[in-house]
Amino acid sequence: MGKVVVVLAAGFAVATCVVASVMVGRSVRRRRRWRRAVGVLEELDEGCATPIGRLRQVVDAMAVEMHAGLASEGGSKLKMLLTHVCNLPTGKEKGTYYALDLGGTNFRVLRVQLGGQRSAIIGHDLDRQPIPQNLMTSTSEELFDFIATSLKNFVEKEENFSGASQQERRELGFTFSFPVKQTSSSSGNLIQWTKGFSVEDMVGRDVAECLQQAISRKGLDMRVAVLINDTVGTLALGHFHDEDTVAAVIFGTGTNACYLERADAIIKGQGLVTTSGGMVVNMEWGNFWSSHLPRTSYDMDLDVDSPNPNDQGFEKMISGMYLGDIVRRVILRMSQDSDVFGPVSSKLHVPFILRTPLIAAMHEDDSANLSEVARILNNTLEIPNVTLNVRKLVVKICDVVTRRAARLAAAGIVGILKKIGRDGSGGIASGKTKGGSQYKMRRTVVAIEGGLYTNYRMFREYLNEAIGQILGEDVAPHVIIKVTEDGSGIGAALLAASHSSTL
Ligand code: GLC
Repeated sequence: MGKVVVVLAAGFAVATCVVASVMVGRSVRRRRRWRRAVGVLEELDEGCATPIGRLRQVVDAMAVEMHAGLASEGGSKLKMLLTHVCNLPTGKEKGTYYALDLGGTNFRVLRVQLGGQRSAIIGHDLDRQPIPQNLMTSTSEELFDFIATSLKNFVEKEENFSGASQQERRELGFTFSFPVKQTSSSSGNLIQWTKGFSVEDMVGRDVAECLQQAISRKGLDMRVAVLINDTVGTLALGHFHDEDTVAAVIFGTGTNACYLERADAIIKGQGLVTTSGGMVVNMEWGNFWSSHLPRTSYDMDLDVDSPNPNDQGFEKMISGMYLGDIVRRVILRMSQDSDVFGPVSSKLHVPFILRTPLIAAMHEDDSANLSEVARILNNTLEIPNVTLNVRKLVVKICDVVTRRAARLAAAGIVGILKKIGRDGSGGIASGKTKGGSQYKMRRTVVAIEGGLYTNYRMFREYLNEAIGQILGEDVAPHVIIKVTEDGSGIGAALLAASHSSTL
């Protein structure tokens, strides 16, 4: 009997040891997997670092590249395209104008009534529709026929509704938000596509002419009065409301900036003779590049997989089209390296499946158990049942990627201010002295537009914070970031008015 007890006890002890060691083994493996996941995050964080010293280097590089791009064609990755827009709206514009805005996720047609007094945009009606995916890679004729048909339908609907009878030829401002080499304020040739568009037979052609021909084919009596970039429309509307507006930036599907350059800087650089005060320059800053930009393997992979490798490097780190896809790539790597997400979901291999509004929603999820993060992981990426700690890792990935984007964007803006002498580096703000001399920093307004800035609070906050850090407390209060609404469309109508043949 005693022997049996001893044998049973020994057996039990062995079993306990085996179970314990299996459990210890599991927990060691779990810890190791967790460490590997954290390792991916730490490496990302390090690779995306934007300390203030680096941001200042980006500021300087932006200003230097702006000079180089202005000095000669091809002198920099920054194209610094002359827009031939010399006069920004003053507020005196009057009449009814149309605008057509093509360049991102949506395509919009507007009818704007201008009252002739500042701030008196009497009304604008808008028709917005997504651009059918197939047209983004079709032929120019198909794309422009679609646009002209939508325009004609809109005009007829509006004029029937308002009972307006057509007295004069209708005037249209065309916002085409891609790199265009302008030959005048109402004509210009497409240099290349960005943001996933690729209508090959358009490259090199006059964009305004393509539209004008399509409008005529539809039997619509309308003249393309101006051809502009969305940044230029935003600057026009910003300036219409506030004459201290000197630059405009778009943070949407893509990112870009334009600013008002002094005539002498342009004349010296590009042999262009202007008589008036200056000209708006479309920087195409999405293509900015500098060795100071913190680039990771995810950025490189995204670039290689894109239809425009080696181009739009700044845009690919910043804009709404790409942020979600950088996050997807990091989650994929984490899932492959650590299995904290369970088996690797096939959805993680689908490019652009995680759109930027979704990363904003995860980043800004303030519920205690991060239920929105869990919902998006489950519904979009088909990754169910992740622990709270893993959800926190996902939030942190969104934070690192978005913070880098916003801080680099801030450095870009200060770079422009530096180029035009509005960053306070030539002296310091009003009331202070430097080297004994008084220097008054002028009130400087930068107009901003785009869903990434207006809809993604964390992006906005990081950007504003970084501008303050770079400029410092003496200068920052003189620089005002102002959101305009629908500037890319309304601005085109305003410029159509100031460039109108009927004035
Ligand atoms: C892309 C285009 C640019 C546009 C920007 C914002 O960068 O190349 O022209 O302004 O997107 O829409």
